[in-house]
Amino acid sequence: KDLREMPGPKTLSNLIEFFWKDGFSRIHEIQLNHAQQYGKIFKSHFGPQLVVSIADRDMVAQILRLEGQAPQRSNMESWQEYRELRGRATGLISAEGDQWLRMRSVLRQKVVKPKDAAVFTGGINEVVADLIKRVNFLRSQEADGETICNVNDLFFKYAMEILACIQIGEFLNLVRANKCTTVSTIIGSIGNYREFLSILTSSFPIVHCPNQTLCLGLFLDDSIGQIHVDNKLKELQSKLECGEEITGGLLTYLLMSKELTVEEIYANTTEMLLAGVDTTSFTLSWTTYLLAKHPEVQQAVYEEIVNNLGTQQLPTAEDVSKLPLIRGVLKETLRLFPVLPGNGRVTQEDMVIGGYLIPKGTQLALCHYTTSYDEDLFPSAKEFRPERWLRKDNLDRVDNFGSIPFGYGIRSCIGKRIAELEIHLSLIRLLQAFQIDVSSKTKPVGPKTHGLLTPDGPINVRFVDR
Ligand code: HEM
Repeated sequence: KDLREMPGPKTLSNLIEFFWKDGFSRIHEIQLNHAQQYGKIFKSHFGPQLVVSIADRDMVAQILRLEGQAPQRSNMESWQEYRELRGRATGLISAEGDQWLRMRSVLRQKVVKPKDAAVFTGGINEVVADLIKRVNFLRSQEADGETICNVNDLFFKYAMEILACIQIGEFLNLVRANKCTTVSTIIGSIGNYREFLSILTSSFPIVHCPNQTLCLGLFLDDSIGQIHVDNKLKELQSKLECGEEITGGLLTYLLMSKELTVEEIYANTTEMLLAGVDTTSFTLSWTTYLLAKHPEVQQAVYEEIVNNLGTQQLPTAEDVSKLPLIRGVLKETLRLFPVLPGNGRVTQEDMVIGGYLIPKGTQLALCHYTTSYDEDLFPSAKEFRPERWLRKDNLDRVDNFGSIPFGYGIRSCIGKRIAELEIHLSLIRLLQAFQIDVSSKTKPVGPKTHGLLTPDGPINVRFVDR
């Protein structure tokens, strides 16, 4: 069938939906509604941009399994144009084609496999120890001595500290300290980036407007990466001059191996922070919320931990493989609240999808939020049921393409193993130390889209001593 025959909302109704009815904060809901109304494949126009949305697990699998060697997520011309204009390189998120392939193959050697991430266990556990102390301090400031208001603030610093430790091989003590200039700069930049993403992910014409470089200039800045990289370079130079041994994190490796230019290292340092902080902290926040709301699940997870590790033992990456339920908790949290509710791909060949001929160069939107709530794939889809992820036998397995929160294939999340490890290790320690409960300050929280899928209000929960 021809693309012209494909159903979908009219441009005018999209404009009303987004500009009149605050659609930007409800992109996940609109995705669900459109799939119900128009079917599992539908088209939308956003100004000049045509987007074909796919809300079907098997079609999503077909697209991702057939990908070439350098898949393209979306049109990043504006982003790249701005960077070229300023003499800046692009990082993994924004790079395309051969440049992306080259950078990805350098970075993947260090962070992609579970055993690569396992190297960071010691560093992560040190930050977790600070996290526990911080929980104790923060709850002592509240009248009931137990509630922490807006847990995301805490997890944001935790996620940033871990990435700093992995990248620069040093602690910035963000969880311990109250605030410092670097933190404010980074928080500000990530905030700007989030605003930018809400516009970019909506594929609205604003990103293609004549003043695009001006628009982007407001948002994209490498100051975060530059601070770290320049400091590290100076340090390495003086160590080399003194003949000292060189050790350290990812940055040291990148600077010493010289496989990427310094500009590319700036860009990747920045983009990894942008990609790895909010995503992880929102997921941790949702997980604590869901566990507080589901004491019976929390009890089962606690028993699993205690049976395997007792109440004091520090977990390692290897231990996590013996704790299927806690892994199920993370998968189920990301199914209910996928930080990226949708993802993009630009077709690199003509393709037939769902019976339609989709020409090369078409922007596809993969509707992960919708497939995650598909009752045929996940019975009682709205319920938090981590046990659905336990593999009893091959037949009972949940088919992963319905919920792929880290993407799939060669362009999937490069930080997946790090994110999983930092979430698992912190949850295990938190649950060994505390029972997470609702408090009188816990209000119902739902998702809203703000670039990423974020909580629509603060998550306030109690951490009660075990
Ligand atoms: C819960 C946490 C996280 C989630 C849910 C998540 C999810 C994702 C998703 C869905 C993508 C797009 C994949 C695709 O297009 O197929 C992505 C890309 C990416 N993520 Fe993550 N992410 C998380 C944490 C992290 C962390 C901790 C890092 C850094 C260490 C990171 C770095 C990146 C980068 C650099 C990309 C771009 C990869 C490329 O284009 O080659 N992410 N992530």
